[in-house]
Amino acid sequence: MKILAIETSCDETACAVVEDGVKELASVVASSKELHEATGGVVPEVASRKQMEFMMPVLEKTVEDYRQKMGFEGREQVVESIDALAVTVGPGLIGSLVVGVTTAKALALAWEKPLIPVNHLIGHIYANFVDSQKKVEFPAVCLLVSGGHTDLVLMRGHGEFEYLGGTLDDAAGECFDKVARMMGISKYLGGQLLSEKAAGCEKAFPDKLFPRPMIFSDDYDFSFSGLKTAVKRYIDGGERDIPCTAREFEEAVVDVLAVKTMKAVKNFRVKSLLIGGGVSANRRLRERLREEAEKVGVFLHLPPPRLCTDNAVYIASSAYFNNKKVKLQDIKADPSLGIMGRL
Ligand code: KG4
Ligand code: ZN
Repeated sequence: MKILAIETSCDETACAVVEDGVKELASVVASSKELHEATGGVVPEVASRKQMEFMMPVLEKTVEDYRQKMGFEGREQVVESIDALAVTVGPGLIGSLVVGVTTAKALALAWEKPLIPVNHLIGHIYANFVDSQKKVEFPAVCLLVSGGHTDLVLMRGHGEFEYLGGTLDDAAGECFDKVARMMGISKYLGGQLLSEKAAGCEKAFPDKLFPRPMIFSDDYDFSFSGLKTAVKRYIDGGERDIPCTAREFEEAVVDVLAVKTMKAVKNFRVKSLLIGGGVSANRRLRERLREEAEKVGVFLHLPPPRLCTDNAVYIASSAYFNNKKVKLQDIKADPSLGIMGRL
């Protein structure tokens, strides 16, 4: 089954074709990230205008890449070969979501194909299923760490999710971004740059420089705002060693994420550990989880970094494994959808 998916939840415009939820056949991503760098944060109006501008070229290029990959002569064969369409309906920015949802609905009518609505957060989890070296075995624990969310979820099967816990304030990615801005590393989405700087620190600290909020709390929740304040106080105190401050901050975030995730892995005796969301591209987090997973003998799936950040490949995969029949007129953008949302 071949699914063409559209993803426009924030500032990426993405489209992809995936076969049977696991085989990527085409994927195109355009981003308006540079525009938001100037303002130091995403401006929803700007993001949705760019979605409108990018939507058709991204769709056109995906269809063309797919046509070439399959060796089809014309568009008719492309349309014929697609079994269903999928689209992200939330969470995200309403103006951005509407562009993708409207485009997908129009395409579903024109091509006479079913349209499958996808929750963006569940979508992130499905990056683990695409072109993976090993089939995911259930039950699994999923750590979802993105710019807007930090959630721990128990997955007993496709569509069978149980929320274990999540952040009570800032998301992990948001914390990376705010600290990167504070340290003058980048005004917008500085997580990756901060991590690259952190790799340059060679000093060892005898004591942990920053707190690990809620690390041993009796739940699966997180809190990152106190850590952000601690870094701010440290910098305001005159500290100028950017790489080592970045590394100590990164260690604190990774420590909390790893300890809580492994607690869930052990308590629920799962067979697989899945990660998703932009922060799951973080080198240190991946290293640490690999070490911990090896110790307890659980298989850690590590999606390639390009599938960790927003794209439409995992949206198509999620649609394949969670193919709920919804009438076209009932498919609507839902900006505040949660991970356990209505889908
Ligand atoms: O999943 P994503 O692309 O968008 C959302 O759905 O939010 O995640 C973006 C977040 C940003 O906060 C970005 O700074 C962070 O992921 N991020 C990273 C890394 N790559 C992306 N954070 C830490 N280390 C990275 N290598
Ligand atoms: Zn995302």
